[in-house]
Amino acid sequence: MMLEHRQATVFFCPKAWKLFCGAGCYIKHMCGIFGYVGERQSDVALLAYWALRDLEYRGYDSWGIAAMTPEGIYIKKSVGKISDANEREFRGVSGKIAVGHSRWATHGGVSEVNSHPHFNRDRTISVIHNGIVENHNELRAFLREKLGVSHEDLFVSETDTEVIPHLIDYFLREGKNFEQAFVETGKMLEGRYAVVVMKKGEPYLLAMRDGSPLVVGEGRDEYYLASDVPAFLDHTRTVCYPGDREYLKVSADGMMMRSLENGTKVEPKWIEIVWDKVSATKEGHAHYMLKEILEQPLALDKAIHQEDEQLLAAARLMKEREHLFFIGCGTAAKMAKLGELYAATVGEKLATAFVGSEFNTYGRFLDRKSLLFAVSQSGETADVLEALSIGRKKGTKIISLLNVVGSSMDRMSDQKLFINTGPEIAVASTKAATAQIAVLILLAYALGKKLGEGKHLMRKVVKEMKQWVTLDLSREIRIVAQKLKDTNDLYIIGRGLNAPIAHEAAIKIQEVSYIHAEGFPGGELKHGPIALIQKGTLVIALIPNDETKRDMESNTTELKSRGAYIIGVSPSHSPLFDEWIQVPDIGVASPIASLIPIQLLAYHLAVLRGNDPDKPRNLAKSVTVK
Ligand code: G6P
Repeated sequence: MMLEHRQATVFFCPKAWKLFCGAGCYIKHMCGIFGYVGERQSDVALLAYWALRDLEYRGYDSWGIAAMTPEGIYIKKSVGKISDANEREFRGVSGKIAVGHSRWATHGGVSEVNSHPHFNRDRTISVIHNGIVENHNELRAFLREKLGVSHEDLFVSETDTEVIPHLIDYFLREGKNFEQAFVETGKMLEGRYAVVVMKKGEPYLLAMRDGSPLVVGEGRDEYYLASDVPAFLDHTRTVCYPGDREYLKVSADGMMMRSLENGTKVEPKWIEIVWDKVSATKEGHAHYMLKEILEQPLALDKAIHQEDEQLLAAARLMKEREHLFFIGCGTAAKMAKLGELYAATVGEKLATAFVGSEFNTYGRFLDRKSLLFAVSQSGETADVLEALSIGRKKGTKIISLLNVVGSSMDRMSDQKLFINTGPEIAVASTKAATAQIAVLILLAYALGKKLGEGKHLMRKVVKEMKQWVTLDLSREIRIVAQKLKDTNDLYIIGRGLNAPIAHEAAIKIQEVSYIHAEGFPGGELKHGPIALIQKGTLVIALIPNDETKRDMESNTTELKSRGAYIIGVSPSHSPLFDEWIQVPDIGVASPIASLIPIQLLAYHLAVLRGNDPDKPRNLAKSVTVK
């Protein structure tokens, strides 16, 4: 067992801090958090270990547990998966309060020092956090000024989280009690968070949330706090979900919930969970695919939080290279094509997109004047890796747009951008795809020297998506799916920015519903596919309010006059539509609005046809062989 006095200096690392400052980056993470308070006298660390194993799907690059024991604060942190740790390590740590954290870093260092919990200087306060403190730089400066100490003397990690214990500590020194200090700290935080705090000698936990998930489980003389219910489903099914900007004080005797802003008491609404443990990991949804589709507003929000410097550096590299090649496979190939289109239309730079497996023929054109831009969720797709290795041999610069830190592509690239969406578990890519679109849009604006405009647009898009992408939308699409579910064929057309989305829509539907689906650019119809159209043939037409609208309408008229049943995906209604899926008008970001209802359609078609959308037949999440 590791006690606090033995840990006092272990995590101090000024070198890492300097490196971090120099890079101007900060740590972003998805993470799983867990807290326990109750009359359980033994094995409290083991309890946290089991809980973190159940939350591992949320993050698995490092973890940490702290528990209040009669001997002092027990602390255990490590890099790697919690499931790789030995259960025996946690046995025999008795106590009534513990916190635990499983981390998934998408920016910067995976290290023991960056893993949670984070502490104040004398390690009496342990903090676990899921989310991001966006104003952590300002808060660091505030603390430095107030405490009159250097960074090196105060901060030991590279994380945004570490400001929290120091702020609480500061307010305690100002004469506030623990709860007051916690509330004052909460009021200063900007960004998204679910935070749980334990303080030595205090028989309760404090927690708050804004934007990141936090659920409370109520047992007999005990409470559980977690990012998701599977963490405590073996112990209780009575749960309550605190709202944004609410905080909790939880002890073995009871729970008190208040508004962070004005301290008003909030009555908890307890409900009984009826799901089994496996489905509970999906945050209440029947499948990961649905969970991931519905969390896209949040995923997009995370994706657009890119460092300006990084976007501008990537844009500079793209601008100065003679030949720019986008490359990807599967869904990422369609997004690579969008990268090409955005580079041309918004960034004024000619680029070419290739499917990874078809790139070999063009490898001979790679040289020091060219740039390979890889788009990949996993960063491990074999065909893309092969193209990148040809590039490396020829001195070609590489930029990668990735989700997984530390992946092979991350290691091979000169510059990397991360979409920060957290693990994508369902095989069919959904949230990673729209997050890739978001970053490609920002990049194109940076390329066109108008990044401010791009950021403004994307903030508006996120706002729109938050209102639109809800369970109501899912229900609406399910009704459409019910009408289409028995079809054998489905065609999708789009033009311009929505032509790659027509292709992506087709593979989404193929992947999970097993319906024969094909996507075409609207203009290609008359060169072949229109021969397939008969009375009742289903066609999805992607018609945004942009320069493609008129041509798309005339293509749709051609189909309609041959008897096609038209499902229009568009911000505006048209008499051509037999079904209208109304989408928000979000300008050049229209591919995001067109794609999301199709992902839902694919999902519901799969479920209605009795398929498991999370694990489609014959497919793998990551294709690491050629
Ligand atoms: C597999 C997955 C797809 C994914 C593709 C590329 O085919 O089933 O969902 O789009 O690989 O994966 P990547 O990790 O490179 O984005």
